[in-house]
Amino acid sequence: MTTYQQLAITRFGEPAVLAMQTQPLPALADDLALLDDQVLVKVVYAGVNPIDAKTRAGLGWAAAQNKDKLPWVPGYDIAGEVVASCEAAGRWSAGDRVSGFIGFPLQGGGYSEYVAVPAEQLSLVPASVPLRQAAALPLAGQTAWQALEKAAVNAGDQVLVLAGAGGVGHLAIQLAVARGAKVFASCSAGNADFVRQLGATALDYRQGPLDVQLKDADVLIDLMGGDVGIGALGCVKAGGRVVTVPTITAEQVCKQARQRGLLAEGMLVTPSVMQNDAMMAMLAAGTLRLHIDAVYPLVDGATAHQAIESGHTRGKIVLAVGGDA
Ligand SMILES: NC(=O)c1ccc[n+]([C@@H]2O[C@H](COP(=O)([O-])OP(=O)(O)OC[C@H]3O[C@@H](n4cnc5c(N)ncnc54)[C@H](OP(=O)(O)O)[C@@H]3O)[C@@H](O)[C@H]2O)c1
Repeated sequence: MTTYQQLAITRFGEPAVLAMQTQPLPALADDLALLDDQVLVKVVYAGVNPIDAKTRAGLGWAAAQNKDKLPWVPGYDIAGEVVASCEAAGRWSAGDRVSGFIGFPLQGGGYSEYVAVPAEQLSLVPASVPLRQAAALPLAGQTAWQALEKAAVNAGDQVLVLAGAGGVGHLAIQLAVARGAKVFASCSAGNADFVRQLGATALDYRQGPLDVQLKDADVLIDLMGGDVGIGALGCVKAGGRVVTVPTITAEQVCKQARQRGLLAEGMLVTPSVMQNDAMMAMLAAGTLRLHIDAVYPLVDGATAHQAIESGHTRGKIVLAVGGDA
């Protein structure tokens, strides 16, 4: 094969602005050798995250930075097989199963049949972990891990996770439980059993204000932001900790939280191979569960974006790039 396919944002707008484009495949022996420390990966699955859809719609800093670089290929989560690597990338060989949180935040590139990735950004996928799970894990898992770290969640803490049934939330519940916390999670009634099975007490946000259902939590992990995040501040005890994850409303939520005497911070996830390796090992050991709501063929990326924009997917959604949908 001398060419390969990608799904690109052709202009900012509705999901229909996503279109397939063809690229020449690097002549491995020649071109790739020029790319210091790169590994060429044949992508089998690519994870879909809300930031992909926000960027496609022209919102946020990734859109602002890439507005003059359209068509731009989104996607930060990949899993696949190593095709070739340059000498400096030593550790990897053809056929290795890998996953990575790549090109974050400005480069993206995961919605693609092939991608060249710096060797140090990849994790080996344990044989027992399906590649679709390995593609769904990186960005959401590391966000969950880092939010709990930032909030200094410890054994015995009461932790409220807003949007506990979502991509980040369902992993955050399990990681917080593993730290010994008592976890509460907001979700709709249809997801109550799901979050309970992950170890949380479910709070149905449609059954009245959360601050009537829960008081004196030590920590709020806010995965909703805006008015929903602000509405949940009353669940946290004086001096409690708040980490608000959606960047667009972080300042607003932190301001309100501080006025209530809470410690509050926003965050931007930082790619960490160490954390990816650790969570991949947990998946392999069965101590972390990753739920995949749906798998869409790459060519149906627009439908995947509609799904993520509904705001009600359970766990993760994934694009099948070279694997089965
Ligand atoms: N700052 C960063 O570095 C960073 C990194 C990753 C993600 N993020 C942001 O964090 C947010 C969460 O990401 P995600 O990937 O977890 O999103 P997601 O998977 O799209 O979240 C979907 C979930 O939200 C739940 N939900 C919708 N409305 C709700 C409400 N009013 N109360 C409680 N739950 C509600 C839904 O559950 P129901 O169907 O039960 O309502 C659904 O399961 C997004 O805004 C994302 O952009 C930021």
